[in-house]
Amino acid sequence: MRILLVGASGTIGQLVTHRLLARNHEIITGGRFSGDIHVDLTSKESIENLFKKAGAVDAIISTAGAAEFAPVHSLTPEINQTAVLSKLLGQINLALVGQHYLYENGSITLITGIMKDDPIPGGASAAMANGGVAAFVKSAAIDLKNGQRINCVSPNILEESMEDYGESFIGFTPVSGKEVANAFLKSVEGKQTGQEYKVY
Ligand SMILES: NC(=O)c1ccc[n+]([C@@H]2O[C@H](COP(=O)([O-])OP(=O)(O)OC[C@H]3O[C@@H](n4cnc5c(N)ncnc54)[C@H](OP(=O)(O)O)[C@@H]3O)[C@@H](O)[C@H]2O)c1
Repeated sequence: MRILLVGASGTIGQLVTHRLLARNHEIITGGRFSGDIHVDLTSKESIENLFKKAGAVDAIISTAGAAEFAPVHSLTPEINQTAVLSKLLGQINLALVGQHYLYENGSITLITGIMKDDPIPGGASAAMANGGVAAFVKSAAIDLKNGQRINCVSPNILEESMEDYGESFIGFTPVSGKEVANAFLKSVEGKQTGQEYKVY
């Protein structure tokens, strides 16, 4: 399949790329400063430009989307905007624009995360974005046309990310990148839609 992957240079993006390449898929990579095509998910124009350059694809994947961490008593509307514009709207706009470049029976797979189900201090903004993306996916699945599907993957903290974020996830049991990458593969090659694959 011809697959567009935004966030391919990241920790999860690299794992997903390797898994998909092992299945002989063609990957077009995207990121703000990395990848075959530069795209900033916070800009609708940038997303439109991405698809004009990429053309039609069999699958769209996002392993991108930022959020800032701050306890709610110091979380401001401005700080919260990062998650709103990047992880929430950025991914949803990728799906909204991307559906028109998706072949029949193509799939869209977005990323959320465990924090919406299992809160950590300072994680409310990221949890908001995760919950919004998951709710969008569930509803959008019943509207998409031409056999198109949409799912999201909600990972626990990855073993590969423990060095960077482990102190924020004390008591969590990290999951392997292989399991997370497999959830993306299931979404791409499987038939399910409207699913949130929780890798917890
Ligand atoms: N790592 C974990 O354990 C874990 C667990 C659960 C959920 N998640 C979620 O999974 C996502 C990816 O995590 P990660 O650890 O792989 O992150 P990462 O290593 O920081 O990688 C982020 C990737 O997204 C791209 N990116 C960031 N902002 C972008 C934007 N506005 N437009 C386009 N591309 C953008 C980056 O490329 P450029 O820098 O070139 O833009 C990079 O390829 C995040 O939303 C994170 O919250 C991660």
